[in-house]
Amino acid sequence: MQTDSSFTFVLFGGTGDLSMRKILPALFEAHRAGGMLADSGKIVAVARHAADRGEYIQWVNEHVKPHVSKNGVDETAWSSFLGRIEFVKIDLGNPEDFALLRDAVKDLPGIRVFYLATGPSLFVPICRALASVGLNENARIVLEKPLGYDLKSSNAINDAVGEIFAEEQIYRIDHYLGKEPVQNLLALRFGNALFEPLWRREWVESIQITIAEELGVEARGDFYDNTGALRDMVQNHLLQLLSIVAMEPPHSMDSDSVRDEKLRVLRALKPIDPLNIGKVAVRGQYHAGGIRGNAVPAYATEPGVKPNSTTETFVALKVEIENWRWAGVPFFLRTGKRLADRVAEIVVNFRAVPHSALGASALRAGANRLVIRLQPNESIRLYCLAKQPGEGMNLASVHLDLAFDQFFREGQMEAYQRLLLDVINGRLALFVRRDEQEAAWRWVEPILNEWKASNKPPKPYAAGTWGPAAASAMLAQHGTCWLEEEN
Ligand code: BG6
Repeated sequence: MQTDSSFTFVLFGGTGDLSMRKILPALFEAHRAGGMLADSGKIVAVARHAADRGEYIQWVNEHVKPHVSKNGVDETAWSSFLGRIEFVKIDLGNPEDFALLRDAVKDLPGIRVFYLATGPSLFVPICRALASVGLNENARIVLEKPLGYDLKSSNAINDAVGEIFAEEQIYRIDHYLGKEPVQNLLALRFGNALFEPLWRREWVESIQITIAEELGVEARGDFYDNTGALRDMVQNHLLQLLSIVAMEPPHSMDSDSVRDEKLRVLRALKPIDPLNIGKVAVRGQYHAGGIRGNAVPAYATEPGVKPNSTTETFVALKVEIENWRWAGVPFFLRTGKRLADRVAEIVVNFRAVPHSALGASALRAGANRLVIRLQPNESIRLYCLAKQPGEGMNLASVHLDLAFDQFFREGQMEAYQRLLLDVINGRLALFVRRDEQEAAWRWVEPILNEWKASNKPPKPYAAGTWGPAAASAMLAQHGTCWLEEEN
């Protein structure tokens, strides 16, 4: 992809964790690949914790370099990458400092991108300070999650940012939308005639979407304890995946066609009935356990977490979509920390054939199933029935496998790299529009409220398992179970 879109990429939170692990490594990859970033493009890091450019570059060498190119750093590319970086020391609490930023960028070329890799409490003050020195004009602003804590706080941020930047200037990141396999889901559904006719209630019995993590809360105990899995993973990543799985075919891949269709799904989610919440929502919290032979402490003893915390580290939900395509089809969503495996997967369970002329073994062998593995090791597996060799008509479940790395050995792109290039090139399709975000909060909020009002503790599960037993019981009520593929 050749580009001549020049840019000035201003990175607030320039010495933060996200800049170190994701943003600067992604910009370096784009630089190293060649042809993706205009030669004249500049990165202006904004931070308090470095005195000047020299000190900042030293920090980048020490902290960012270890996170780039797993197979060793191309030193020539690295030193030319450092040549793109400028530095401005600003105290974000002091709006007058923004005059320094204005002076630093005034002669730099191209479209201006302001990336706010800071806590959400700084979003509005930064936007106002940018506007006070005229830097909001013709610029793009990138907001990292979490964008608010509930509908009200997210609206407050969106309203305030919206007074300064028009919606088409605002890029709200959900990094799942930048993942190659998530893009591939669109290709699978809308590039093949094979699946779409079956992708509906007449042929689909249920759908499962899992994002399971082995990691715990790492160094983010304090943040996570005030957030929980529903806000951290469901309101954004899981509902975005659900909307892509369930949406109608868009008329084109332009930003609003795709986002309009996702929005229709989010608006069609059946509201959760608070009286029924125990049947459709399970919250859990991990206790001490073990993962791959290593002992793992309980969530409540992690640094930054309150010892009597009732924050959920696991959520399982039964979701329904009220439209003609999906009425009555349960979508089971689950996510959790410290589970048995790291996997993100979509399982489409098809209905059994309407009449089986092939006898009891056909019924025992089950129905067709499509398993879309998003990570790790992106793959698609289609389970079919086949006759077992030998005498008689005995059927067994077999599968067709598509491992993407066997077809495409090169050219994989990390989510952040794709998303940053999209911002620089003005492509909004993979960013969350305000109305999508509001619809997601609107649906999630009654669950949060009910959990808070009921004051019940989350259900315990041992670290290294697949979550509380209640999550399996919820599916058992529908005659099914969670499906965990071998890695
Ligand atoms: C982030 C959450 O948005 O996504 C983290 O805040 C979570 O808690 C992460 O670990 C998972 O992302 P990935 O790409 O590792 O699956």
